[in-house]
Amino acid sequence: MSVPTSIKVFAPATVANVGCGYDVLGFPVEKYGDTIKLELRDDDRLVVQEIEGADGIPFETDLNVSTVSMNAFFDAFGDRRGFDVFIDKNIPPGSGLGSSASSSVAAVYALNEYLGIPFTKKELIAFAMEGERAASSKPHADNVAPSLLGGFTIIRSYDPLDVFGIPSPSELRVTVIYPHIEVKTSDAKKMLRSQVKLSDAVRQWGNVAGMVSGLILGDFDLIGRSLQDVIVEPVRSILIPYYEEIKSIALDQGALGFNISGSGPSMFALTRSEKTATAIRKDANEFLSERGIDSMVFTSRINGEGAKVV
Ligand code: HSE
Repeated sequence: MSVPTSIKVFAPATVANVGCGYDVLGFPVEKYGDTIKLELRDDDRLVVQEIEGADGIPFETDLNVSTVSMNAFFDAFGDRRGFDVFIDKNIPPGSGLGSSASSSVAAVYALNEYLGIPFTKKELIAFAMEGERAASSKPHADNVAPSLLGGFTIIRSYDPLDVFGIPSPSELRVTVIYPHIEVKTSDAKKMLRSQVKLSDAVRQWGNVAGMVSGLILGDFDLIGRSLQDVIVEPVRSILIPYYEEIKSIALDQGALGFNISGSGPSMFALTRSEKTATAIRKDANEFLSERGIDSMVFTSRINGEGAKVV
């Protein structure tokens, strides 16, 4: 039997922060994400051959997030293989939907599968975080971890890395609203103050605890009450055109809550039914197109699977 010489992997886009959980909470969506194909080479080099679906992404292996992550994998693996890398980007960089994370995750997941699964999915997180470091200088894990593991994912600690998943109710839906402007995560991180008031911290960790409990218990009212962010949203929402108006549209339609996806400009609403999610999609779409703002608006279940071979 001949050994396959290539592998193709899909890694989903993600909503990080989920309102109250800056850098510690995220979940993946179902259909949007990046696909990467690796083709074995005769030498031990990584060569980015093709990047489709987005402009301005570096081909240099020390800058491209996929190859940076693959090199981190090889360093831990202790051996190297050469691959041609073909990247199909379905999520543009700077969208707030974990674009760099999808490319990093797809690359290390593909490598791991190709080499006979030497690492667990959780061990792959650290390698994909090196791609995040290359993209935005601070290697946050709240996009890569859910993209790899599927489901709502919590980063309890960065040092040492401690990541785990929690269940969420199957009825839960998300509407994602992505106005086509670019917000660089590195810039959006620099906007934030490094210190927070104790009274804000108290509200924030109360909401994180409420969100996690609401998801596990399937308590939609608690999820809605907890989907608030008193630290990051007030600062970053000013970068997003018509943020307050779109939030009102979603809440008027019955969203449980609404917030910024990752570092924006994408926004998301959580709902307890597809019907409400679709109504928000239609209204938000109409609102943005009436104002001449190109956008992509979609609804999704929570992706429970994460990265997968296709
Ligand atoms: N937690 C990160 C941030 C996510 O908000 O900067 C970036 O997508």
